[in-house]
Amino acid sequence: MEQKYLLIPGPTPLPPEVLEATGQQMINHRSPSFAGILRRVIEGAREVFQTNHDVLPLTSSGTGGLEAAVVNTLSPGDVVLSLSCGFFGDRFADIAEAYGARVERITVEWGKPIPPEVVADRLRRDRKGEIKAILVTHNDTSTGVTNDVRAISEARENHPALLLVDGVSAVGAMDCQTDAWGLDVVVTASQKALMSPPGIALVAVGPRAWEAVQHARMPRYYFDFHEAKRYLERPVMQTPFTPAISVVYALDVALARIRQVGLANWIARHALMARATRAGVRGLGLSLLAEEPYASNAVTAVRVPEGVDVRRLIARLKEEHGVVVAGGQGPLEGKIFRIGHLGYVEQQDILAVLAALEEVLPELGFPVERGMGVKAAEKVFATTVEVPQ
Ligand SMILES: Cc1ncc(COP(=O)(O)O)c(C=O)c1O
Repeated sequence: MEQKYLLIPGPTPLPPEVLEATGQQMINHRSPSFAGILRRVIEGAREVFQTNHDVLPLTSSGTGGLEAAVVNTLSPGDVVLSLSCGFFGDRFADIAEAYGARVERITVEWGKPIPPEVVADRLRRDRKGEIKAILVTHNDTSTGVTNDVRAISEARENHPALLLVDGVSAVGAMDCQTDAWGLDVVVTASQKALMSPPGIALVAVGPRAWEAVQHARMPRYYFDFHEAKRYLERPVMQTPFTPAISVVYALDVALARIRQVGLANWIARHALMARATRAGVRGLGLSLLAEEPYASNAVTAVRVPEGVDVRRLIARLKEEHGVVVAGGQGPLEGKIFRIGHLGYVEQQDILAVLAALEEVLPELGFPVERGMGVKAAEKVFATTVEVPQ
């Protein structure tokens, strides 16, 4: 069957007006007309990042933004503390290592968050102040776990380490107060809660990070923050290289929609979709990887019941119901499947995936009482005040 419901944790479905924007004619990316669009996108992104400082648009997927965060603030040989609780935490550490940082990895079991006290303890023992930066994933999309980035930032106490945050699946889907929480660099990407196609990474850079940029010696060219800023500050705002123009068009419309709804409402919508998904999954008799206090607004990881082949489950959801969900990554491959509920997702999408699971699970040997998943999710929707979209 054709895809009817796209419920992977990015890319996400596009609202009709965003889809339309992507089909618009090209214009000169160094013209005042494009500068006007770019300016609105950066302003809109600042609101979502909750920052008054710089936001740099880079033409790349989210990983490029993470690489940019590393190479612009660090030098080869710098000690970096990586906090990882999943696939994307490991990736961030790998990037730093690839550029010659000495990476010390704190890893926790996948499915659990990083305890901020572990960070506080490690930094207190760093009497010489060797640790230059901490890498953390706000929301690890591989597990559906949200880290308490605010508490991790506070755990630095007086330690000068920068905090570099992978907010790729977090920004827009959950509260991420870049300035108020003292986050030095935060990276997101167009194809997640910002409901645009992939192609633009947005990087919030705070004043302490800019200071570090002055001394950072890791090699860089395409992702040079100084160049990005210099071009944004030209009389006609622009980017150093040809940007993904269609994605910039899309972000312009998508960010306007978020502004119209209001960021707090937009985040509340994500929380509601996530709660309903979790209730529905539990209603089906399935268990969740992440426990409630740190369960993600953006994606829900569901444990595959004993004896069920997840590949067949995912294939049947698509073939018989047009429902597309994601599998597990790394050590969780075959053990979980993931339902994305970020960006342009509505009640009917959540109900559709649950209804499809109710039909497919029994076919694969896991008995389900028909209607229990949908009913549990509907109850959440019914008892929550409608949040505007
Ligand atoms: C938390 C997180 N970090 C990084 C990435 C990588 O982003 P991209 O695939 O856009 O390079 C993803 C993508 O799913 C992600 O969810």
